[in-house]
Amino acid sequence: MRHKIVAGNWKMNKSLEAGMSLASEVINMVADEYHGNAQVVLGVPFTHLSAISKLTAGSTKVSVAAQNCSQFLSGAYTGEISVEMLQSVGAEWVIIGHSERREYFGETDAIVHEKTKTVLAANLKPIFCCGEPLAIREGGDYLNYVKAQLTNGLFAFSAEDFSKIVIAYEPIWAIGTGLTASPEQAQEMHAALRAHIAAHYGQEIADNTSLLYGGSVKANNAKELFSCPDVDGGLVGGAALQSREFTEIVKAI
Ligand code: 13P
Repeated sequence: MRHKIVAGNWKMNKSLEAGMSLASEVINMVADEYHGNAQVVLGVPFTHLSAISKLTAGSTKVSVAAQNCSQFLSGAYTGEISVEMLQSVGAEWVIIGHSERREYFGETDAIVHEKTKTVLAANLKPIFCCGEPLAIREGGDYLNYVKAQLTNGLFAFSAEDFSKIVIAYEPIWAIGTGLTASPEQAQEMHAALRAHIAAHYGQEIADNTSLLYGGSVKANNAKELFSCPDVDGGLVGGAALQSREFTEIVKAI
């Protein structure tokens, strides 16, 4: 059975103090108001992981993600953060291959594959991001573009390893723009990705893969996006920076 997941990606926002307040509010609101089984993930800056994972330790629903990691295990990589370091500060998840990492920091499919491999080997859970830019969407070949991101980034993994990966589809034209994919557009892509996974790993694994949608998810559009049969939750940016808005999104799952 696949899991429902609502993950927030705080990106490069919030001081430690402000982040701890936000996390505490979300943990409390989710405990008081959300009675479903979805997992709630807070993707926080590296500097906040240690403190915020202590806050989530008492929660059955909320856990913590890093937003990136090194593909290398240790050594002379100034400024990088290893999976061992992430484990040691209580991260359970790692967001990998976000479009901002691919676009601004040169992360190729090959690098994203290596990072995912490193995360799996450390028994952390990858949230693997994919999604097409506007020009590809307008050119019409967007399904093949995103399917290729999965093929190149993930399909070399064994079925056992692949089963541990959560996939987030985030059309780049919908990120931070206020322009959300329609439920029909999200469903079309998610169904295509699930079929693509089924063709490689079989229907059972495809049916058990959690596929999240990201891109301007808000409290007022979450319900219709989450009601799509192949949308298993969301990866939320801007709306994850306010506890009330984010909790309303959690409650929409
Ligand atoms: P927004 O929700 O701000 O569009 O960001 C989406 C995103 O990039 C989450 O990873």
